[in-house]
Amino acid sequence: MKRSAIIGVGGYLPEKKLTNADLEKMVDTSDAWIRERTGIEERRIAADGELTSDLAIRAAQVALTDAGISGQEIDMIVVATTTPDDTLPATAVKVQEAIGMTGGFAFDVQAVCSGFMYALATADNFIRTGAVRRALVIGAETLSRIVDWTDRNTCVLFGDGAGAVVLEAREGVGTKADTGVLQVALRSDGRYRQLLGATGGVSKNQRAGTITMEGREVFRHAVTNLAAIAAEVMQAADVTASEIDFLVPHQANVRIIDGTAKKLAFEADRVILTLPKQGNTSAASIPLALWEGVSSGRIRRGHLLLLESMGGGFTWAGALIRF
Ligand code: ACO
Repeated sequence: MKRSAIIGVGGYLPEKKLTNADLEKMVDTSDAWIRERTGIEERRIAADGELTSDLAIRAAQVALTDAGISGQEIDMIVVATTTPDDTLPATAVKVQEAIGMTGGFAFDVQAVCSGFMYALATADNFIRTGAVRRALVIGAETLSRIVDWTDRNTCVLFGDGAGAVVLEAREGVGTKADTGVLQVALRSDGRYRQLLGATGGVSKNQRAGTITMEGREVFRHAVTNLAAIAAEVMQAADVTASEIDFLVPHQANVRIIDGTAKKLAFEADRVILTLPKQGNTSAASIPLALWEGVSSGRIRRGHLLLLESMGGGFTWAGALIRF
């Protein structure tokens, strides 16, 4: 059977840092509150004129270099983003042009913080059917553009960035020893869509709007949903927590990550954490965490990884990947 192996990983973070001390000057908050309640110390903010596609292209170039291939060798691009450059066309076609890919196809997906997982699952299915040989999967966001910088409930949480992986078809035997994506599960429940949304929308009022969130409710659902979907993919792949080398979670809140890790019996040293320096970069956070894990040398070839995400919709997802 065909498996989607990760042959390249990349990331990009804008230069500008916004620290908790900076935020103290903007809203009624404190470094101590933000650290204690979220685990965040600073986040990156895209420069004026620096667009989601710019971040996505930089991350894609790093991933392509890591994979040792050119853009022409990619058959499919999926960009997960909640903050596209344009209402139309897709941000993915800008990436396509920038990497010199003239064949194949490129499109965006929107599943908020679960976007990368949805994009990964989509590309994985194209590879499994044999329709595509190599796919570039990107999570890229400029969340700072839709944050209400006067709302302390949300503005302390988010940051900008992009992460990317290159997937390539490999023959596997169908067991957990295979290299590549072993299992993916996606879920959504639209009954909760009001708990995390935006004040704008193209069809609603022709504006992008700003983020609104019932943080406590999102938090409550997050730990339960994440632990459940992680257990589901582990069971489906016949894998126990002790066999997994690293948990690579969506980075929303360190207490959500700790709570999920505890439920799954993961010690802190088996969890990749980028939240303190990046904040919540939505669809970009999982590939950025993967990039951090790989470039720091902690994640190595052959390691078994558990990825999980939870975001607006609600959407949530889990995946098991042998790197
Ligand atoms: N600084 C100081 N005080 C604050 C701040 C702030 N930045 N923000 C909120 N507070 C206050 C609140 O006003 C409240 O005060 P009150 O009791 O007088 O009303 C108090 O702190 C406690 O507020 P809670 O909302 O109960 O705080 P909580 O411990 O739940 O932490 C947080 C809030 C960090 C938002 C948390 O609920 C959380 O992380 N939720 C989940 C976020 C998440 O996972 N999002 C998912 C993905 S995002 C996406 O999909 C785009």
